Amino acid sequence: MPSGCRRGSRACWCRRRRCWSVPCRAESMGGSIGDAGQRAVSDTAAGHDLTGVSRTLLIPLYGRAHAARLLPEVRFHDPAAQDLARRLGLSERDVGRDRFTMRLCIARSLVLERMLGDLLDAAEQPRTVVVLACGLDTLPQRIGTEHARWLCADLAAVTALRDQLLPPSPGVSHVSAALPHGLDALAGQLGEKPPVLMLEGILPYLEPAAVAATLRGLAELAPQGADLLVDGYHPALLAFARFGDGFRRMRVRFRFGIADTRDYVQLAPRLRHQAEKDLLALLPWRRRLRTVLPAVAALGRPLATITHLTLTPA
Ligand SMILES: C[S@@+](CC[C@H](N)C(=O)[O-])C[C@H]1O[C@@H](n2cnc3c(N)ncnc32)[C@H](O)[C@@H]1O
Repeated sequence: MPSGCRRGSRACWCRRRRCWSVPCRAESMGGSIGDAGQRAVSDTAAGHDLTGVSRTLLIPLYGRAHAARLLPEVRFHDPAAQDLARRLGLSERDVGRDRFTMRLCIARSLVLERMLGDLLDAAEQPRTVVVLACGLDTLPQRIGTEHARWLCADLAAVTALRDQLLPPSPGVSHVSAALPHGLDALAGQLGEKPPVLMLEGILPYLEPAAVAATLRGLAELAPQGADLLVDGYHPALLAFARFGDGFRRMRVRFRFGIADTRDYVQLAPRLRHQAEKDLLALLPWRRRLRTVLPAVAALGRPLATITHLTLTPA
């Protein structure tokens, strides 16, 4: 049993095969912005140290790895995620049984991949792509390095895990950068041309002030013409999502939702709203029954989106 486990306490979640311990409720609710308030204190998975690593990153990884079974309709295929999930010995017991969230993560990965692909195809030269809060995302492995030079950024513990599991390679670098105030770590690494900046699966965990600080930091860091792709969730969806099996067991608290993605431009200077894509459009009705009530509350606004923003001149 890992040393951090407090078996028997209300916060402890022990299972026969493996043991995850989670911070006590006060710690998880009051966690600093830097850890988004939901760390696993001392875990191992198939021999890998997961100390300080947010378990929420396992949900999208599991979804991508099992996309053929969970959402065959979209034909998403991610051999690198499959390999990673196998090496970590990930099972549904590790991520919960909330298949709607996993499917949403698959749709998110697919839409982001397509939107990024369009931006890269339109460029004459390879672009720098910064994947913020990258977790164990396998986007660089899916798209490759012919048209992109990758900078994958996350908290130090996750970067260390990524170094082991998806080691840096030519065209793919790793950097430790905590949002919202650690973006200086990226300075000097963005290259000459405007980069593409990606925020996937992180903003809902940050306080609204930290979301605004992150967008302001990116606006200060990146030159005119930079593109920003960011996922967003309507507060009505988040209100229901926290009751999902995985999030409930991980004691996740959502802090930031966005009802109208045009409001991103109010949060930081130099942002221009270009487009939004509705993620739920990829899910057949029977796969999104969970969204019926939130959709009524949202009065027609999309519940889950990828938004394309650009940075205008200073
Ligand atoms: C739900 S996971 C998403 C991971 C990845 N984007 C994906 O879709 O697979 C959230 C990620 O945010 C990272 N994270 C949490 N708080 C952070 C912060 N303050 N700064 C940077 N990354 C953070 C976590 O370490 C984790 O990798």
